[in-house]
Amino acid sequence: MNQNMFDIIKLGGSIITDKHEYKQLKTEILRDICNVIATWNKNIIIVHGAGSFGHILAKKHSIISGYTDSTQLEGLTDIRIDVNELSQSIVKTLKNQGKPAIAFQTSALVFDENEETNPSFFVEPLKKALTIGLIPVLSGDVLFTNEKDFTIYSGDSLINLLVQEFDVDRVIFITDVDGLMVKDSKLDGIERLSSLPLNDLREIEIADYSKKDLADVTGTMKGKVETILSIGQFVNQVVVVNGNDPERISKVLRREPTICTIVEGEKSTKR
Ligand code: IPE
Repeated sequence: MNQNMFDIIKLGGSIITDKHEYKQLKTEILRDICNVIATWNKNIIIVHGAGSFGHILAKKHSIISGYTDSTQLEGLTDIRIDVNELSQSIVKTLKNQGKPAIAFQTSALVFDENEETNPSFFVEPLKKALTIGLIPVLSGDVLFTNEKDFTIYSGDSLINLLVQEFDVDRVIFITDVDGLMVKDSKLDGIERLSSLPLNDLREIEIADYSKKDLADVTGTMKGKVETILSIGQFVNQVVVVNGNDPERISKVLRREPTICTIVEGEKSTKR
């Protein structure tokens, strides 16, 4: 494998924050996860969700609808302050583990010209940071757009952009679930997908979505599958692992078997 390839690690908002309580950081879990990441000697980019540092105020101020009135601006300012604080907590935790990281503001690098094409992306600062050995830390953000003036931009959407700009080996989603869960037709329960090619995930999407069979364990499972279907074309592997057990992350990084979902991407077939 090419040593210059990157891994992207997504720290989901629900694993590093308590999503129900405004600005509630899960300090110990974040420290344990960063501990594991610090042992990893490969080029990495970290993308984190906003969790309760973003979603609560975003909902309150209807940020996703775009600009409607000036009262939203206070919300926008507060979200930026809060997400910045969360990014800096991650940077500081990594620094305490001896890993030099630097936070980048997503909305200062990405701009949505129109909804049909990929947003424009000023990627050079990230590339430079990486070449000198820094770990870039980015997040979901309130993005400026031409059409709506601003909107919510998820960390997953950002990853979709990053995999098209960088030579990415794996995208590792650190979440609070054991992997991608689907309904088990035989047992009438829920089962975890352990390892599968991207194409099989497409099948599951078609078969199970249309019949609404794919377990709605959380509202975001569907969105996650859609994200994986998109980024899986550009990377070798997409992994979904539960960050509540950092040993699993450690095993994923070392490519040892553990409880997670591994989707084999289609990067090699694209060359
Ligand atoms: C959301 O980012 C960004 C804001 C609400 C500002 P994500 O969608 O990636 O966050 P999580 O992982 O769901 O918390």
